[in-house]
Amino acid sequence: MDSHLALLRLAVLVSGSGSNLQALIDAIENQQLPGAELALVISSRADAYGLQRALKHKIPAVYLPWNRNQRLEAEARTLALLRLFEIDLVVLAGFMRIFSPAFVEQFPRSIINLHPALLPDSGMGDTFVTSDGSTIPVFRGLHVLQRALDAGLKVTGSTVHYVIPELDAGPVLYRREVPIQPGDTEETLQERVKQAEHRLIVEAVKKHYERKNKLAQYDWSSCPASVRKQVQAFCEQMQRILENELVAIYLHGSLAMGCFNPERSDLDLLVIIQHQLPIEKQRPVMESLLTLSNAPCPIETSLLVEQDLHPFQHPLPYHLHYSESWRQKMSD
Ligand code: GRF
Repeated sequence: MDSHLALLRLAVLVSGSGSNLQALIDAIENQQLPGAELALVISSRADAYGLQRALKHKIPAVYLPWNRNQRLEAEARTLALLRLFEIDLVVLAGFMRIFSPAFVEQFPRSIINLHPALLPDSGMGDTFVTSDGSTIPVFRGLHVLQRALDAGLKVTGSTVHYVIPELDAGPVLYRREVPIQPGDTEETLQERVKQAEHRLIVEAVKKHYERKNKLAQYDWSSCPASVRKQVQAFCEQMQRILENELVAIYLHGSLAMGCFNPERSDLDLLVIIQHQLPIEKQRPVMESLLTLSNAPCPIETSLLVEQDLHPFQHPLPYHLHYSESWRQKMSD
């Protein structure tokens, strides 16, 4: 496996011009998204200019035929590609196909969509309050810019949100407002919305990256790729199982995910949760911790409950200790 695998491997899905894809390519090339790599571009159309953009920058680009009655096959192929290219985040940037709920549910908070309208924070609801305090309707689906013009709105914009089974809904990562000017047509408005989107999409990927914190503050340079993948998979598993209960994950005393700093450097990996584990979560969490211990490079692991952190000498509610840490293994 490539020992320089990026921390956030992106797949961008397009159906057209791909100007937002270009914004991401440029941001990565200009080091604005350190740790991110554009690993794959998929297009639902053979003639999408987005494919050319990808190839110009030597990014793997795939035309994946997707007629409207072939969703199942197209999704199966998409899934295979995402696995093959070890994708962490899927960006839908002008992708004119809708994934089934079953497909979306396999990627919680791992698919984001760029929608040229303003959505409220939760991504749900029919109205949005703009920064000047006016309440405007939320437009989902197609032709939303024309619908904003037809409704006589003074402001519209674009939103990047996590994809959930409902169309153009889901928790918002970032949005930008764009004023509608007198005399705007769908084309002139689209031009300005796209200008805003080119910054927005980069900011959103960055925010996702910081939020998921793919071990951003941990110095991975001395860590073998196999261990990194192993720990990252573990972190994702923890996030899925523990959801809001997860406070932080530390690796060698550095913040791997979350926000709290107990400055513990004596353990390889420390998982901090908010409450004692509810009974139904105990088993999956313990099993995940045990997989780390049985992995080729075992990892010294501990799971703490937040309120028990002070003082640190407090007996740990869960403590798994493995004599052979991967640090020792590496120095062999
Ligand atoms: C963007 O305006 C996006 O909001 C919408 O499709 C457009 C794609 O533009 N979903 P491009 O292909 O990135 O130029």
